[in-house]
Amino acid sequence: MAEDALSHPALDKEPGEQFLQEAFQILIEEGVRKGMNVSEKVCDWKEPEELKQILDLDLRESGEPNERLLERCRDVIKYSVKTCHPRFFNQLFSGLDPHALTGCFITEMLNTSQYTYEIGPVFVLMEEVVLKKLRELIGWERGDGIFCPGGSISNMYAMNVARYHCFPDCKQKGNWAVPKLAMFTSQESHYSIQKGAAFLGIGTDNVYLVAVDEKGKMIPADLEKQINQAKSEKAFPFFVNATCGTTVLGAFDPVAEIAEVCARHRIWLHVDAAWGGSALLSQRHQHLLDGINRADSVTWNPHKMLMTGLQCSAFLLHDSSGILQRCHCAKATYLFQTDKFYDTAYDKGDQTIQCGRKVDCLKLWLMWKANGTKGLEQRVDRAFAYTRYMANEIKKREGFQLVIEPEFINLCFWYVPPSLRGQESCTDYSLRLGKVAPVIKERMMKKGSMMVGYQPQGNNVNCFRQIVTNPAVTKEDLDFFLDEIERLGKDL
Ligand SMILES: Cc1ncc(COP(=O)(O)O)c(C=O)c1O
Repeated sequence: MAEDALSHPALDKEPGEQFLQEAFQILIEEGVRKGMNVSEKVCDWKEPEELKQILDLDLRESGEPNERLLERCRDVIKYSVKTCHPRFFNQLFSGLDPHALTGCFITEMLNTSQYTYEIGPVFVLMEEVVLKKLRELIGWERGDGIFCPGGSISNMYAMNVARYHCFPDCKQKGNWAVPKLAMFTSQESHYSIQKGAAFLGIGTDNVYLVAVDEKGKMIPADLEKQINQAKSEKAFPFFVNATCGTTVLGAFDPVAEIAEVCARHRIWLHVDAAWGGSALLSQRHQHLLDGINRADSVTWNPHKMLMTGLQCSAFLLHDSSGILQRCHCAKATYLFQTDKFYDTAYDKGDQTIQCGRKVDCLKLWLMWKANGTKGLEQRVDRAFAYTRYMANEIKKREGFQLVIEPEFINLCFWYVPPSLRGQESCTDYSLRLGKVAPVIKERMMKKGSMMVGYQPQGNNVNCFRQIVTNPAVTKEDLDFFLDEIERLGKDL
């Protein structure tokens, strides 16, 4: 390249700005306006081979003109699932909060990292304030924490910190410094606990699965039994995970009773409140998490129930002695210089296992500023009200059957088509019932009318799990949902 070429910028600012403006128009029109419009499809389903053809994904030697790129942006939105659509009930996250989305845009535009005050002064201060607010809702006056790339990673942080708490030498010496460890979680807990055990070298064989009652809640007496069992096998019980809001049934483990067991055996208590943590914002429903203040650590995902936008997951610690820092620091001198001109206590990056860390606090902070704690509480209460309405409707409708009475906002139910009604005593009833939800799901996806998840659960065959968190949803959408299941499944 000629040296002369370096005298001028290689990026033309004006066309770039023009492109951004036009792309934003598309984003608002196709993504936000159409995405939230009930008369538009939730998803324009295509088989993978057809979608590959439509999208023309190959990357080539030469670039394309802006008009073509804007068409491509349109296509990306068109063929993606609209999780903000009022008839999207498929995941634990849904909806679109304009303030949170603005926070996402600003975060992307500034493109910085959360690791040092020098590179992210606003966000270092902001993260601290948001985490403190979450800790206060748990009932902790002191503590520590960080935002993590998702609840699974937050849970893994908890295991790593708990192991370090028991065996600080393991940081240098590895597993040689640690006896055979044992950890405990309920049969209904999230699979990230098993993944964490594998990832951290603890081993999935050393995860003791504690029995649950008929509502899916951990049985504390069985926890104690399993701890004693592990001790008799010469294992070292170091970690109990209690779940507040299990993934499928939405069950809350009895944290206060579990805390008693942990105190008796001196075991680290982690509460995975990735899903149910947001109920702490509600005066009416926060009792579900009674005892959470006795936890040593908590996972809480505002990106699920609060609509903060993926991803926003807080790992919160009651310890305020700096264990996060001690457990994870590597003291890289190129980044965490000790002779900086400002107070380096604000350089929090060495507390984490990451180097660069995305800013996840702004979207939550801006959304909280816009709605206030009261507004967030109303959002949580509205989600409970949706579920109550749906549970009552299901009881009134022939062919619909609740798996359990919902305690939280997970609505698990079967649709029994007319051909199966009254056939409960037939030997193949369960087998046939289990085939209903997948067919209805296929039909709704291909039609694009709505989305809802299904799964087997414990000994139960496939049932639907509907989650409604999006405040844009109305009673009409909920009635449509039940009618549509009936329309799509009545011939099965
Ligand atoms: C109870 C529970 N914990 C942890 C997770 C994992 O969260 P993430 O998807 O952010 O990794 C989930 C996800 O659904 C969950 O339901």
